[in-house]
Amino acid sequence: MSLAALLDSLPIPILQAPMVGASLDELTVAVSEAGGMGTLAAGALAPAEIGPTIGAVRARTSRPFGVNLLMAPKAEPEAGEVDAALARLAPWYAELGIAPPETPNQFAPDFDAQFDALVAAAPPVASFTFAILTPAQVKRLQAAGTYVVGTATTAAEARAWAEAGADGICAQGFEAGGHRGHFLGDIDGSLVGTMALVATIRAAVDLPVIAAGGIMEGRGVAAGLALGAAAVQMGTAFLLSDEATTSTPWRRAAAAATDDPTRLTRAFTGRYARGIENRFMRLMHGVQDDVPAYPVQNRLTQPLRAAAAKADDPEMLSLWAGQAVRLARPGRAGDMIRSWWAEAAEVAEGLAVRTRRGQETE
Ligand SMILES: Cc1cc2nc3c(=O)[nH]c(=O)nc-3n(C[C@H](O)[C@H](O)[C@H](O)COP(=O)(O)O)c2cc1C
Repeated sequence: MSLAALLDSLPIPILQAPMVGASLDELTVAVSEAGGMGTLAAGALAPAEIGPTIGAVRARTSRPFGVNLLMAPKAEPEAGEVDAALARLAPWYAELGIAPPETPNQFAPDFDAQFDALVAAAPPVASFTFAILTPAQVKRLQAAGTYVVGTATTAAEARAWAEAGADGICAQGFEAGGHRGHFLGDIDGSLVGTMALVATIRAAVDLPVIAAGGIMEGRGVAAGLALGAAAVQMGTAFLLSDEATTSTPWRRAAAAATDDPTRLTRAFTGRYARGIENRFMRLMHGVQDDVPAYPVQNRLTQPLRAAAAKADDPEMLSLWAGQAVRLARPGRAGDMIRSWWAEAAEVAEGLAVRTRRGQETE
């Protein structure tokens, strides 16, 4: 088998995007069971949690699923950087009535240990974001029976993954919610829209491409496949699903989203990510270049965001969402993918009629 064959064999070529903070095994299982492919967001899991969580998914579905890891760099804050960052956050913590955290010993789970746990669990598919595996790491996963997907935001990043031996590319367009996955260029050079990105990556590498970013319903699914993607990956479209773990204020903000509510920000985590703009993003905008790089700032704002969610306050937590969040709808994830696929079929039928008519009149 190949990854291309696996994607082609899915009854519905819709992948649920891994979403740290908004998805766990429940959503993964629901999407895989309905005929798409769920992806477990394992980026924030401790290495020891990865095997059991993958085991829990396996126990509930025999269908293919993926697991995603975030390749956080080793945190090496400069002297005084953490103190300065905490001082900047102090008024926000004070507003919520809690003390800022002490300087943590660890800023993110150890990637190498997470990777070992992933290889040992050998899920059908593994995807990676924020950096690139070495060819030896890719081979280790493939030898364990796992297909490797690399997230790319430019054609150059897709080429780099192809050279590392990956089985497929997730093309993450500018529209996408959550963190940007760029790892070669700077942010400005890595903001390519899904339509341009899928087409250029298709032309750059001979690997199956998964289209991600701004796909919200059947029309987007059909568009991604028409561009040559082997499957599409949707995140924001699942934020309001019953199985997502989206917090109550986040859900409310997504459900009430207006036309163009999202912005990119570095202020919450030290890495650019797209979310619905709120007071924290607005007021921190001017200093976002000064905050420590991911994962340091991410760790330092974690208690703030958790407390804000608990206090039902959408203004101080990260409301990650893609540009088309206004189209998000509630429902059961399985029903959603089945109706998107039916809608994609209708769209394809309509296009077939239209293109035939165009040719007949030539
Ligand atoms: C709330 C949220 C969390 C996300 N977390 C992750 C993650 O843990 N790993 C990852 O590779 N991508 C993550 N993403 C990005 C998705 O993989 C995908 O690129 C994006 O959802 C596609 O665009 P869309 O949101 O417009 O569908 C996240 C996206 C959202 C909305």
